[in-house]
Amino acid sequence: TVTTNSVTPIKVLVTGAAGQIAYSLMFMIASGQMFGPYQPVILHLLDIPKMADALKGVVMELQDCSYPLLHSVVATTDVQTAFIHINVAILVGAFPRGPGMQRKDLLKVNVSIFKEQGEALNKYASRGVKVLVVGNPANTNALTALVKASDLPPSNFSALTRLDQNRAQSMISEKVGVNVDSVRNVIIWGNHSQTQVPDVNHGYILNYPNRGLIEPIQTSVNDDKWLNEQFIPLVQNRGATVIAARKLSSAASAANAIVGHVRDWLLGTKDGEHVSMAVYSDGSYNVPKGLIFSFPVTCRNGEWSIVQGLKINSSTQQKIDATTKELQEEKETAMSFLN
Ligand code: NAD
Ligand code: LMR
Repeated sequence: TVTTNSVTPIKVLVTGAAGQIAYSLMFMIASGQMFGPYQPVILHLLDIPKMADALKGVVMELQDCSYPLLHSVVATTDVQTAFIHINVAILVGAFPRGPGMQRKDLLKVNVSIFKEQGEALNKYASRGVKVLVVGNPANTNALTALVKASDLPPSNFSALTRLDQNRAQSMISEKVGVNVDSVRNVIIWGNHSQTQVPDVNHGYILNYPNRGLIEPIQTSVNDDKWLNEQFIPLVQNRGATVIAARKLSSAASAANAIVGHVRDWLLGTKDGEHVSMAVYSDGSYNVPKGLIFSFPVTCRNGEWSIVQGLKINSSTQQKIDATTKELQEEKETAMSFLN
């Protein structure tokens, strides 16, 4: 039998650790859902000084869970202590948009946070650190951190669009009437914003009852009008719809998506399957190089690679162009604050 004592613990930083996503996420990590049942973890938890007491309470609760895989917890409001020697950085903490605040103002405060965190990654983190940015605007925050961590490879940086993928796959499963596990390879292109492009054209339904082993999603749904006019805006607006209902943004579902993203990145995607991750564009699909853009990827040995050669139809291409334009504008604004 394998004992956890013989395995070196993995150091995982969660920022925004006193916030609501972290309140689901860290319990999933400590219970083994992210790295498997034999991999011990050391949690580094960072929040800002005014949240220090709340953070202490979260640490007490983690202790009270008696998780065998939780080697230790470092809870801090000091950036260096948080980032030192970490193997995985999950950057959740960000400045939320307040009433009357323009997108540009939001970008400005977040650029200052992710500039500091990019510099901290560069100085203190393990050279192989895998970075996942969740705090919004996630793609551009990831780009800011990447630019400031110039000694680390850009392929170490990513932003979360897995929640959008999960939302899309769940809606398709409900429409077709199959278990969500049968819905594979739905793609999210571009920005984690309302311009994101949910694309079912390369997806399939596995073991669709009585119709052979695999069927394209479009065939199973058999309702192009629904796919184009309802499904796409439903996925694009799901985050806002949850906020309207809960008066808080998605938290447990975001944590669940983070676990899926990091697990697949480190442990690998399944054969024949791809997942969506926002990663540093290399020019694939004519997306300009140097944007953090959501692509379909496969992962092996801790490295992602963009799925090549998919044929993009003209209506999807138009939407990809729009999300690209938004990301270029965000990048320009963010970089103007950096210089
Ligand atoms: P929250 O407000 O409950 O928690 C955020 C925490 O971050 C707070 O405790 C805050 O003090 C902390 N924080 C702020 N600045 C920090 C800094 N510089 N260093 C460390 N901690 C800092 O928010 P939440 O619901 O947990 O959401 C966090 C972020 O995730 C938001 O930006 C939200 O929009 C985003 N989000 C993204 C996705 C996605 O799919 N990409 C999904 C849901 C939410
Ligand atoms: C989500 O997709 O649920 C969030 O990004 C929404 C938000 O604005 O926090």
